[in-house]
Amino acid sequence: MERFGIKLNNGLLALALVSFVFMAYPVLSLAEKTVDPEKLFESKCSQCHPSDRPKSVRKTPAEWKETVDRMQYGNGCDITDEEAAIVVKYLSSKYHK
Ligand code: HEC
Repeated sequence: MERFGIKLNNGLLALALVSFVFMAYPVLSLAEKTVDPEKLFESKCSQCHPSDRPKSVRKTPAEWKETVDRMQYGNGCDITDEEAAIVVKYLSSKYHK
């Protein structure tokens, strides 16, 4: 009986460990999805013209905002407001006047 008890406890311990891994998994994969501004820019801004087009110009933050707004609302770039703000920030810091 005692041996059975020990085995049962090991089983529960294993179950607890497995559940922990499964519970932690979504949290870990969520962290992986944290946006990389450069990847976001490359994927969103290379669909109609090469991403070299924005990379070859220098603009002030206000001008980048204006340009990205135009891509989003005028040209039909499939980007959310939140993503657009990330791209504007990225371009403003890397390709500024
Ligand atoms: C749906 C197609 C499309 C997507 C996606 C797109 N663009 Fe454009 N882009 C255009 C078109 C069309 C032009 C030329 C007409 C114009 O300037 O609006 C252009 C021109 C440009 C120019 C040159 C004109 C200028 O104002 O300097 C830049 C820079 C630019 N795009 C940046 C971007 C950025 C940054 C993104 C990502 C947020 C992006 N584009 C995504 C269609 C697109």
